[in-house]
Amino acid sequence: MSVGRASIAASILDADLADIGHALRRLERAGADRVHLDVMDGHFVPNLTFGPRTIASIRRRTRLPLDAHLMIANPGRYIGDYVDAGCDSITIHVEIDEPIAPTLEAIRSAGRRAGLAVKPATALAALEPYVPLYDIVMVMTVEPGFGGQEFMRDVAIAKVRAARDLLAHVPADGEVHVDGGVNRETAELVGAQATDVLVVGSALFTTGCDMAREIELIRSLAADGYRLAVDDGQPPVSPATGGDGR
Ligand code: DX5
Ligand code: ZN
Repeated sequence: MSVGRASIAASILDADLADIGHALRRLERAGADRVHLDVMDGHFVPNLTFGPRTIASIRRRTRLPLDAHLMIANPGRYIGDYVDAGCDSITIHVEIDEPIAPTLEAIRSAGRRAGLAVKPATALAALEPYVPLYDIVMVMTVEPGFGGQEFMRDVAIAKVRAARDLLAHVPADGEVHVDGGVNRETAELVGAQATDVLVVGSALFTTGCDMAREIELIRSLAADGYRLAVDDGQPPVSPATGGDGR
């Protein structure tokens, strides 16, 4: 858990998927901390993206850590493919209709970090039966399936801080990821929830976006949000004034 300094995981969902290499070079140069890979099967969500073969090519083109977000109905049968493709973490959805524990165990026994994602309408309590089988809790602040959607503030406020309690079994390196609608307008609130990883997609791939500046802005807004929240809303006091404002 990187307290106070959130990481930025760039989602390439809204990149030009016909030129992923270019998107990866841009993300690396712009200072993204990781690549968030939205895998969709057209069944669990009404969209279809890419699979392990594409990810294996991505692995050969970047040194950044790869976080696979599997929005697929039957992840259990494919975990070996995502491990072989080089994913550093693999997150599945708690809403799937197949056994979850064996898949989380398979991810971890392959030496990768296992994550559980929760849709906006699903209560965090759905994750409780799987503690301590995961390292990541991914709170979806949009309905999974597409980039560019509106951030769900009340979902973030209701779930993100509470998600930390579901990581007590991994106090040092458990991570809370917030995924969906994270941008310069919402980063401060997301940071105030002590989020470890902000997933940012469309905000980085809008035409004319200065990606490095956007990443730096979102990262610093999240840090401001965290600091304000830690100090109960008091602005950080500069050491020069010694705290009594004189
Ligand atoms: C949505 C995906 C998100 C999305 C984030 O189903 O899981 O990762 O791509 O993109 P933005 O930042 O545009 O919401
Ligand atoms: Zn995602």
